[in-house]
Amino acid sequence: MSLLLKIRRIILTGFMGAGKSTVGPLLAQSLGWDFVDVDTAIETRSGKTVAEIFAEQGEPVFRALEAESIRELTGRESLVLALGGGAVETESTRNLLARLDCTCVLFLDAPLEILIARCVAQPLAAERPVLADREGLLRRFNARLPYYRDAHLTVTTAGLSPQLVVARIIEALNRHHAMETVTEDVPTR
Ligand code: S3P
Repeated sequence: MSLLLKIRRIILTGFMGAGKSTVGPLLAQSLGWDFVDVDTAIETRSGKTVAEIFAEQGEPVFRALEAESIRELTGRESLVLALGGGAVETESTRNLLARLDCTCVLFLDAPLEILIARCVAQPLAAERPVLADREGLLRRFNARLPYYRDAHLTVTTAGLSPQLVVARIIEALNRHHAMETVTEDVPTR
């Protein structure tokens, strides 16, 4: 049985600019699943943009809303869910990701310079509160990396189009299954 048949949701993690919101809908489309971006879900629910929540209520309020939205959304099936880059900073979210059944947590990886260049090139770059804090970026990136690396799968995205990243993801999921099969076939001593 393919690993793709065993998993019911894919959760995309990675720093800002990793491609979660670009690759996510394409991946969902290729699987015939739904796509939800946690930031968009928070904005719809609160009637405010992420930047407004940061500015008016502060980051801790945003993190609490984010953790609650993730907890609710991870109950859904046939879903590709894109987390905000800072979601892994919240311990309860990390614990939730570690214990979800039938779920593939997938880290979209790229070097920080590439991530920043991608963010800066986007039309709403000025509204990204974490991007605005350039001094804090490297600190946040380094603090989050070990959490991102806890993912079940890592796919590097540098130099790849979103379509190629989706192809790599599907390939990685199938390869992962092949490795599992080989391991299972090895006689135990
Ligand atoms: C954040 C990343 C953003 C958004 C918020 C905070 C972060 O999401 O959740 O601005 O702390 O890195 P993206 O990773 O989708 O840009």
